[in-house]
Amino acid sequence: MSKRFYLETVGCQMNVLDSELVASGLARAGYEPAATRRAADVVLFNTCSVRQHAEDKIYSELGRLKRAKEQNPLKIIGVLGCMAQKDGPLIFRRAPHVDLVVGPSHLGELPRLLDEVAAGAGPVIAISEDRNQENHRQVRESLSFVPFDPARQVDSRAAAHQAMVRAAFGCDKCCSYCIVPSVRGPEQSRPIGRIEEEVRQLARRAMEREVALEVTLVGQTVNSYHYADGGRTFRLADVLERLNAVEGLARLKFVTSHPRHMTADLIQAVRDLDKASPYFHVPAQSGSDGVLKRMRRGYTAAAYREMLSAIRETVPGAAVTSDFIVGFCGETEEDFQKTVDLVGEARFKNSFIFKYSPRPGTYAADHYADDVHEDVKRRRNNELLAVQNAISEEDNRPLVGRRVEILVEGPSKTSVRRQSEGEVVQLVGRTTCDRIVVFDGTEKLVGQIVPVQVEEAHAFTLFGRTAEPRMNADERG
Ligand code: SAH
Ligand code: SF4
Ligand code: F3S
Repeated sequence: MSKRFYLETVGCQMNVLDSELVASGLARAGYEPAATRRAADVVLFNTCSVRQHAEDKIYSELGRLKRAKEQNPLKIIGVLGCMAQKDGPLIFRRAPHVDLVVGPSHLGELPRLLDEVAAGAGPVIAISEDRNQENHRQVRESLSFVPFDPARQVDSRAAAHQAMVRAAFGCDKCCSYCIVPSVRGPEQSRPIGRIEEEVRQLARRAMEREVALEVTLVGQTVNSYHYADGGRTFRLADVLERLNAVEGLARLKFVTSHPRHMTADLIQAVRDLDKASPYFHVPAQSGSDGVLKRMRRGYTAAAYREMLSAIRETVPGAAVTSDFIVGFCGETEEDFQKTVDLVGEARFKNSFIFKYSPRPGTYAADHYADDVHEDVKRRRNNELLAVQNAISEEDNRPLVGRRVEILVEGPSKTSVRRQSEGEVVQLVGRTTCDRIVVFDGTEKLVGQIVPVQVEEAHAFTLFGRTAEPRMNADERG
């Protein structure tokens, strides 16, 4: 009987993509997905280390599996991804019932490592050498951050209409608060030809399935993409141009952008290429120059505003989203007010706001005191969120009464289970600007681009009903 695996994922798009690739690798090795942890022979967590909270949650989930392991010692428990890379052997000490620890660069070895565990090899670990400690060799084999880049199994993908495609691995920035460069390794751009080939395969599959394809190019600083080939260096704008020509591709997005690399050619490419979505995720992190400097972000608030103006002027109507960290070391009320001012001015479609969480081994954790009290962090978080949400709602309101083009993603979470073929259910989709729209329709619409008349607007969601297609329906929303 084939073995069953259960894989839980937290963290960013990189992890979601890694998990898809891991799952298809396991399927090829003869594993089947299990419906629950309990029914699984192998329970895997793909983990995130970006904030303490994300790690605490995983350790508590691991704690809950202790009894299951006692009852069934043959059950294999594995920790994958960023926390595996960061904590390494510490995971075995904190959770001795864990069998396997595998960092992001070693995920391709997973089927073999699982065989080793099953054969009784004991706790197995595969992580890359610590980027910050060259001589520190606690790992068993390959020591560098070799990208996990297996051939994509497009045939076994659950959704033919949406895909993330990796543009780059790792990160070369040195933001003082951030653990990502040390767990994901140096920035390595994928060859443009490989990206194109993958998108062509995904597009062929989408055409066979008669659905529209949306591709999101992912990388920690995706707009710093640079790949040299044949005496020429390809940038992200070149990748977009190349992919825009792919038949069967409907929409093209990219995340996450760094403000310093938001060059004119890239913004113009988004303006000129019909498949490029007018949507930019460019985290500002703070509106205060003092804080930005301590964060080592490499730009000032004025430079960020200039970059934003360039987007607004070149691509009118584009949606821009941001991330912010509140309560970073030394952040005063005055600093925080500057962030509030930036959010008030910038009119982001939405912002993700995080309370600063010191990460061991980062520059900030080693050099600055985490001196903003938790209550103050919480208050600033809520305050900034309230300012942003009011803006999100205000800017969504004019969409009421307009028609927008929606790529239908699937039934909404609250949707009732489908009783019979063709039944009307609540569906959720997105505009090309990444606005979420909820409306009623049949599941046959999943994967299609349909016009929807917006009837109600909230901060995060628009509600509408399907509209008759008509000529010139180019509302971008
Ligand atoms: N590469 C992206 C984002 C990476 S992590 C970028 O540069 O923007 C996603 C977000 O988590 C960051 O934008 C930041 O807002 C937040 N983050 C990263 N480290 C953090 C920390 N130590 N504490 C709180 N939030 C953090
Ligand atoms: Fe972290 Fe900065 Fe790299 Fe983003 S750019 S992943 S915040 S180090
Ligand atoms: Fe988390 Fe790793 Fe992404 S630390 S944010 S899952 S790169």
